[in-house]
Amino acid sequence: MQPNQSWHWITSIGSLWGHGLPEHPLDQPLSDAWLLVGEGQIKGVGTGVEGAQPVLLSAVPELDARWADWRQAMVDHQVQQTDLNGRSVMPSFCDPHTHLVWAGDRSSELVARLGGSTYAQIAEAGGGILSTVSKVRSLPEEALLEQSEGRLLRLMKQGVACLEIKSGYGLSLEAEAKCLRVARQLSQRNGVRVVTTFLGLHALPPEYRHQKNEYVHTVVQDWLPRLYDQGLVDAVDIFCEQGYFGVDDLEALALAADRLGLPVKAHVNQFHSIGGVEMACRLGLASMDHLETMGDQDWAFLGPRAPVAVGLPLCSLYLDLPYAPLGAMLARGQRVALGSDLNPGSAPSGNPWLNWCLGVLRCGLSPLQGLEAMTSQAAYAMGLEAHCGRLQAGLDAHFLVLPPSWNPAMVVGGMGSVAAEEIWFAGHRFFAY
Ligand code: NIG
Ligand code: FE
Repeated sequence: MQPNQSWHWITSIGSLWGHGLPEHPLDQPLSDAWLLVGEGQIKGVGTGVEGAQPVLLSAVPELDARWADWRQAMVDHQVQQTDLNGRSVMPSFCDPHTHLVWAGDRSSELVARLGGSTYAQIAEAGGGILSTVSKVRSLPEEALLEQSEGRLLRLMKQGVACLEIKSGYGLSLEAEAKCLRVARQLSQRNGVRVVTTFLGLHALPPEYRHQKNEYVHTVVQDWLPRLYDQGLVDAVDIFCEQGYFGVDDLEALALAADRLGLPVKAHVNQFHSIGGVEMACRLGLASMDHLETMGDQDWAFLGPRAPVAVGLPLCSLYLDLPYAPLGAMLARGQRVALGSDLNPGSAPSGNPWLNWCLGVLRCGLSPLQGLEAMTSQAAYAMGLEAHCGRLQAGLDAHFLVLPPSWNPAMVVGGMGSVAAEEIWFAGHRFFAY
C-alpha cells in the first residue's frame, strides 16, 4: 500500500511556538512536540510521542485501534512521517494590510525623498498614488495579475500564508473591479486565503478633482454595492488624512458597509491626527491602521474595546515617519497587530522578517509580542482567527521550520533575513532555503 498522502505526522519538534494551548503559557513554546496535519489542516498538536496515539487514532480514519503496534502501522501503511530532529516550528505569517495589486515602479520616489522631497510634494508633482493609478488603468488584467503574482510568491517564500489585499489604484468602477478580480484570482491560483478590501476612497481621481463630495457619494452609494454584488468585496477601507478624506467620509462609508455587513478598516494618523482614531473607535471598526502620528487626545480612545491597531513600521522606515507606539498601546490593553503596507510608494518591501524586527526595535514590542502581532493578532485583524495565525487543531496547516534552539529574539539580529529553513503550506513542504 502507498503511504496515505493526505496525512502527515511531524515529530521531534524541539520548540513549537504560537500553539495557543490554554494550559501552557503563551510565552513558552511546547518542547518535544508533534503536529498531525491532514486535508490542509492541523488535526492535532501535542507533546511526547506516546501521547499522540489517541489523537492519531481518532483523526485518521484508516488507522485501526486494534493494531497492536500502532506506530508501525502508521509507518507501513497510512501516514507519512517527518522527523524534524529538534528543529523549531512557528505559524506562518498573516499580513493584514497590503496594497499588493499594482502596476509599474516608483523607486525613483525613494531617491527623490532622499534628496529632501516629502511624500506630499512628490504627490503634488505628479507622483504618488495617482501615478500608480494611471499605470493600473492602462494595464490589461492578465498583465496586472502576472506582476502581482510575482509579489505574492515572494511574500509566500518569505513565510506569508494569508493576507489582505486592497484595491485603491484603479479609482474608477471598472479599474477597481479589475484590481479586486486580480486579488481573487491570486487567491484561487495559489491557494492562499485573501481578504479583498475595497479602497475606493484612497485618493481623488483626476475626473473628480474638484468634486470630492460627489466622488465620495458615488463610491459609497454606487460602486460599493455593485462591487459587493459581483462578489469582489470582503471589507472596505479609506485613507483618512488631511488632503485626502475626512472623518465624515469615514462615517458615510461605515454606514454603507454596515448595510452590507462588511467590516470597515481605516488608514488613520499616518501624517496628521484629524480625529480618525476617535471615529474608528466610535464606529467600532474592524481595524485602525498606521497610527504613526498619535496626538495626546487620541490615546484616551485606546483600550481593550478599541479596534485592533495595525502598525506598519516598514512605511515609517521608508517615509522616515515616527513609528506607531505599539508597545505603549499594548500596555493599555489595546490589541495590536503588524502589517507590511506593501505598496509601490510608501512601503515597497513587504518583508515580514524586517517588519517583525522593526516592530521590536522601533514600535516597542517584545520579540514574542512581535510574533503574536505578525500571526494570531494579524489574523484577528482580518477576521480570520478561526483559520490561521496559530498552530491549533482545525486551523490551516501553514507553518515555518526554523533551526533547533531558535527563539523569536533572533529575528531582531537577523534584520530582515529569512530565519525559516522550510516553509510549509497547507500541510506540505512548499519551499526550502
Ligand atoms: O498605506 N497611505 C495611503 N496609502 C498607502 C500609500 C500608497 C502609495 O503611496 O501608493 C499607504 O501608505
Ligand atoms: Fe496602506
